[in-house]
Amino acid sequence: MARVELKNVRKVYGNGHEAVAGVSFAIEDGEFAVLVGPSGCGKSTMLRMLAGLESVTEGEILIGDTVVNEMPPKERDIAMVFQNYALYPHMTVFDNMAFGLKLRRYGKKEIKSRVAQAAEVLGILDILDRKPKQLSGGQQQRVAVGRAIVRKPQVFLFDEPLSNLDAKLRMQMRTEITKLHRSLAATMVYVTHDQVEAMTMGDRIVVLRDGHVQQIDTPLALYNRPANTFVASFIGSPSMNLVEGCLAADGGLAFESGDVHMPLGEGLASMRAYAGRQVTVGFRPEHLHLHAHADTLTAGTIPLPPVTLSLLEPLGHETVAYGRAGGTPIVARLKPQTLPQVGEPLNLAIDAEHLHFFCADDGHVLEATRDAEPVAA
Ligand SMILES: Nc1ncnc2c1ncn2[C@@H]1O[C@H](COP(=O)(O)OP(=O)(O)OP(=O)(O)O)[C@@H](O)[C@H]1O
Ligand SMILES: [Mg+2]
Repeated sequence: MARVELKNVRKVYGNGHEAVAGVSFAIEDGEFAVLVGPSGCGKSTMLRMLAGLESVTEGEILIGDTVVNEMPPKERDIAMVFQNYALYPHMTVFDNMAFGLKLRRYGKKEIKSRVAQAAEVLGILDILDRKPKQLSGGQQQRVAVGRAIVRKPQVFLFDEPLSNLDAKLRMQMRTEITKLHRSLAATMVYVTHDQVEAMTMGDRIVVLRDGHVQQIDTPLALYNRPANTFVASFIGSPSMNLVEGCLAADGGLAFESGDVHMPLGEGLASMRAYAGRQVTVGFRPEHLHLHAHADTLTAGTIPLPPVTLSLLEPLGHETVAYGRAGGTPIVARLKPQTLPQVGEPLNLAIDAEHLHFFCADDGHVLEATRDAEPVAA
């Protein structure tokens, strides 16, 4: 297995489009790294450069200690699993899985044993003599993964391999790929635009936007300490509430945005360094709670002005409530107790310790959110 490193990697396509804008990060040996970001942010381009299917405009890609920029794909000792499986339709499952090994001139016995071993791991021993069109989507996906496993490559690359499957199968394959990663202890790079997939599978996640890395961190660090408003709204579902306004410091520190007035209390005194500035305040839907009256608020919570409900989504274990506080849209995930009806006001309070503050200009997190010492303005 091997470590993978990108050093200032840039990709400009022939039409002048910069798909990857000078990206540097390393994926450790045996790590499961997820590249995530919206459509067009450069995920596939990055993966294809790792695979050698796309040239690198600038910078270096290392696999192990070797710079592989000029190395042809077949010498890179990597295997890639694509979204569309790309199985050979006229070949049986066995031959599809054996094909890469035959090309590399492995002996018959070795091929048979590797295919059998992979088929056993993936639970497809009983379909080895079928053709792809006689398989379900999930089975085809397993064959595509099997074809990668038999190679025993240093690095596995996955490009949205589960997006053609229905929700249940996707969840099942997600678990299986995670298990596979554990048992093979292989370096894996997995591309998805699905943040749930990213959060549940990745040891670390690389969040991309327009060819730029936004943040690289463990799933929970991304969730708890997003570096900017893009990551804050991309990770988590429904998205974090983001409200732009001003920090006012007449008397106690407070956040003001149109009809929204939020006293911040003493716990956030460190934000005083930003008094008078435009900031974006963020709070996740799960950090809002129902409260009956302003005077029953417990310490550490901040009341929102009454939210007029516009939509309730009862999910059984919780209800997602959409509404507006003045003109500001608010989403809350609430316990499935009796809630007011649509059109009625809802009193909500935020856990103060879960408030995030971002610069209103460029969206970067204001460090005071994380610790007591504010960064000088
Ligand atoms: N061969 C090409 N020539 C010119 N531009 C390209 C080419 N391939 C991709 N692009 C552009 O580069 C950008 C990144 O494309 P890429 O396929 O890497 O995105 P992605 O993150 O994988 O998106 P998706 O989630 O939709 O698969 C896009 O704007 C795309 O239109
Ligand atoms: Mg893609």
